[in-house]
Amino acid sequence: MVVRAAEHVKPRCYNVVMADKLSHKLDEVADRLKSAERVVSLTGAGISAESGVPTFRDPDGLWEGVRPEEVATPEAFGRDSDFVWRFYLQRRSKLQAVCPNSGHNVIARWESRFPHFDLITQNVDGLHQLAGSKRIICLHGDIWIDRCTQCAFEQRATDVSESIPRCSKCDGLARPGVVWFGEQLPHGAFERAVEQSSQAQVVLVVGTSSQVYPAASLAGVAQSAGAFVVEVNPEATSLSSLADVILQGPAGEILPRLEARLG
Ligand code: OAD
Repeated sequence: MVVRAAEHVKPRCYNVVMADKLSHKLDEVADRLKSAERVVSLTGAGISAESGVPTFRDPDGLWEGVRPEEVATPEAFGRDSDFVWRFYLQRRSKLQAVCPNSGHNVIARWESRFPHFDLITQNVDGLHQLAGSKRIICLHGDIWIDRCTQCAFEQRATDVSESIPRCSKCDGLARPGVVWFGEQLPHGAFERAVEQSSQAQVVLVVGTSSQVYPAASLAGVAQSAGAFVVEVNPEATSLSSLADVILQGPAGEILPRLEARLG
């Protein structure tokens, strides 16, 4: 038998120390939250991972095996709207089968827990809304909206049909109401997100790789204005070196543990 250095086998006490450290960090963040008037959460695909929605950049993520420029740019839609729609109709159909998880639910409850709680999400899946969040800025749009390419009329998709949606007003070709690469964010959304982030005392950045701008700049904006920035993520990200505290773990476990400490 080959003897290998047990570099991946952590001694039992290591796990205890890590758990203890996480517990202290949770206490520290809970103390910050208890005295905060304004709290912001910025979420990404990771918060929906425990609902069974693939993220974008993790292994088996949505962008693995798909080139974003083939399905998530206005040029791709101009070239082959059928192909792009098939991608989004398939996503809608998968989303219809999933539910919000405990991470979404905690965030929804926090709207009434704090004097001011704002949610800024990069997600288009609608799960925050299903969980009951109302004060949301959807930076990257909403996959459940069909927007007419002719008259810009927007309507909510009521069922997951397999046919390509057309405008109920002018019969123009509709497109998914999501923000594609190279497009502007919804009017005023980023400005409101900057305003909320810079007024917050605590900003929780949950489940995002912090690789897509301008959303990824919000934590820095908040911190420069004095906010305490907390990252909730099982993995290290581009934000990790800037965050004041990292709560390492899945959002569906970390957020309920944090909520339990708020009393
Ligand atoms: P990414 O796929 O880039 O990152 C997902 C993050 O979630 C990673 O950092 C994971 O470690 C983390 N994660 C995975 N499981 C988690 C869990 N259970 N709890 C907490 N975190 C978890 O997704 P985003 O950062 O959201 O834009 O991507 C940003 C944007 O890139 C998307 O909005 C989309 C995409 O291109 C557009 O389509 C415009």
